[in-house]
Amino acid sequence: RERQDRRHSKQRLLVVANRLPVSAVRKGEACWQLEVSVGGLVSALLGITEFETRWVGWAGVNVPDEIGRKSLTESLAAKRCIPVFLDEDLVHLYYNGYCNNILWPLFHYLGLPNEDWLATICSFQSQFDAYKKANQMFADVVKEHYQEGDIVWCHDYHLMFLPKCLKEQNSNIKVGWFLHTPFPSSEIHRTMPSRSELLTAVLAADLVGFHTYDYARHFVSACTRILGLEGTPDGVEDQGRLTRVAAFPIGIDSDRFLRAIQLPQVKNYIKEFEERFGGRKVMLGVDRLDMIKGIPQKLLAFEKFLEENPDWHDKVVLLQIAVPTRTDVPEYQKLTCQVHEIVGRINGRFGTLTTVPIHHLDRSLDFHALCALYAITDVALVTSLRDGMNLVSYEFVACQASKKGVLILSEGSSQEIDALLFEVEVRFVLLCIFYPPRPHIQVGYKDPTLLFVGFGEGKIYTNMTSTAKSRAGPVYPTRSGGGVQG
Ligand code: F6P
Repeated sequence: RERQDRRHSKQRLLVVANRLPVSAVRKGEACWQLEVSVGGLVSALLGITEFETRWVGWAGVNVPDEIGRKSLTESLAAKRCIPVFLDEDLVHLYYNGYCNNILWPLFHYLGLPNEDWLATICSFQSQFDAYKKANQMFADVVKEHYQEGDIVWCHDYHLMFLPKCLKEQNSNIKVGWFLHTPFPSSEIHRTMPSRSELLTAVLAADLVGFHTYDYARHFVSACTRILGLEGTPDGVEDQGRLTRVAAFPIGIDSDRFLRAIQLPQVKNYIKEFEERFGGRKVMLGVDRLDMIKGIPQKLLAFEKFLEENPDWHDKVVLLQIAVPTRTDVPEYQKLTCQVHEIVGRINGRFGTLTTVPIHHLDRSLDFHALCALYAITDVALVTSLRDGMNLVSYEFVACQASKKGVLILSEGSSQEIDALLFEVEVRFVLLCIFYPPRPHIQVGYKDPTLLFVGFGEGKIYTNMTSTAKSRAGPVYPTRSGGGVQG
């Protein structure tokens, strides 16, 4: 009977990520409010239905006391979440330090933080030790909850040591590791003191995944050049053991958005927003307040547009949702000040007694309000300087079922979208890249880094994940040399 039950039940999947899909806010000694966490990882993984899923991760809060830990564990259990409790000092060194002050800038080609570089280098070893310690703590929690046959899926740059820790505990665990950011060229990766240890730890996984073919290739060539291992069409080989490496561009659960825009509460929001902004073209930006998202650049471009087009002053509004993130990291604090200063200046220059050109919010929006905003938007601006895989563009398109809005994508956000546009059924209105060789294309902006795409059918990304998956190919770097055929 037990065997039969198991056959009918779904495969268990333990998703391990630094942050749980809900973050906790303490409301009393044993009372917790759970809020949906913001970010691409959560947006992408909420759609998993094929597995019996449990999440293991940090709830984003320091809980030093036993009563708090017990009650939070119980509240999270209802959401199939299992907390890893990290104390403040560890979070400071592991999350603010090694993850977000070293790996994050490096993986996005931003280099080390300019002014604090000496301090960063001096604290490197203690941050790296904290990183390894935190990864081991995640592994210990997985061990407690692991059942034979479970698949363990580790996520992101926070947990590059986790595959190694898990395999050391039990070599039979099936382990996957997926990176949600770019993986940099080996030229960049090799500049890190911990370059070899990180690669070796990731290679303990059975399957390693990246958003794009390029990131996967970078990883394989880093293993070849730094560790001297053999790259094969399927991955990386070390003494007869193969770690499979492949590209799996992530998508969103588009049905969740398509369903949402039919709900009465979303329709009410749509009505309210249309009345509020009626008569003006709505431009929208939705980002975590992160330097890779190109928010200052977007604002400056908008300022230039207003400067050059006085006719548009009362005809357009930019809504910028900028969700605070990593607020204890100095670079993020500086960015917040910079963005506030630019918004203030633009509103001061171009606002009137009754209207302002930019509505800037330093917080996330409720899901239904966000869907309504996507639905009424005329122009969505996704302007990342470099991004693993920006999902806002997909969310926008999914909510545009009855509107013919325009999506403006920077080169840094568009790794897979431009390729996919040619593969899915899409009623294509306009695609132009502002490179000098195409001077005939007439548009307001001449920024060479912007890719403008406009299309009409909000449903096009319904197939995105499967289409994208079918493109996943081997990542063997070609040695034949040759040239470019065009
Ligand atoms: O884009 C990388 C990433 O780690 C995502 O996977 C995640 O959703 C996001 O950053 C959130 O970052 P944080 O938890 O640090 O706010």
